[in-house]
Amino acid sequence: MQVKLRVRRFNPETDSESRIETYDVPADPMDRVLDLLHWVKWNVDGSLTFRRSCAHGICGSDAMLINGTNRLACKVLVREVGDQITVEPLRGLPVNKDLLVDMEPFFASYREVLPYLVNDDPAPDTERRQSQADRERFDDTTKCILCAACTTSCPVFWADDEYFGPAAIVNAHRFIFDSRDQGAAQRLTVLNDKEGVWRCRTTFNCTDACPRGIKVTQAIQEVKRALLFRKV
Ligand code: SF4
Ligand code: F3S
Ligand code: FES
Repeated sequence: MQVKLRVRRFNPETDSESRIETYDVPADPMDRVLDLLHWVKWNVDGSLTFRRSCAHGICGSDAMLINGTNRLACKVLVREVGDQITVEPLRGLPVNKDLLVDMEPFFASYREVLPYLVNDDPAPDTERRQSQADRERFDDTTKCILCAACTTSCPVFWADDEYFGPAAIVNAHRFIFDSRDQGAAQRLTVLNDKEGVWRCRTTFNCTDACPRGIKVTQAIQEVKRALLFRKV
């Protein structure tokens, strides 16, 4: 089959604004959108710029707008989206070139929520143990691959890029509810900020966008509840 692949292109060195370029790409229904982008890059225009690494839905580097929805290009098959495909960069982050966005604002928010285990007790001889039930408490949010599909589908983030965004909250959740962690109070204080969890309007775009099936909005609600009932 032939796919009409429309790609939003932007070269900061020569363009004042972005434009759509159209490519006719030979494809198999089982090809992924990433394969089509590779075909264009390798056969038509080597300057086409996008980020990808694993090509198997693990690294989170190729999230982009595909026919208007945030998806991972390596996980979307041509047969799912048809022979007219439009690919654009994620919304709400600065575009460096073509489909490549600057992820630094996203990771700045991520870093602020202390996305690592905080525990000042002396390290035990073996591992820090916890029950299966305690591990289960934050299992869903361990699945995040930091692709930014959630944050860049959130209308609150589009309007206010200071908002921490759902991905940062998901990664705070992962440690706030970890029984081995001692940094919950600090994280909750960070997220009680005017740009924190209270900015969320329960729109659910983030949950719909997550390629890992994480219940993002539920995690945000759990962090809100932890703030309401916190004793520290
Ligand atoms: Fe991506 Fe889901 Fe993590 Fe958001 S929560 S960054 S959509 S994996
Ligand atoms: Fe945004 Fe998700 Fe809340 S889309 S408004 S963070 S539920
Ligand atoms: Fe790694 Fe798609 S290239 S998730």
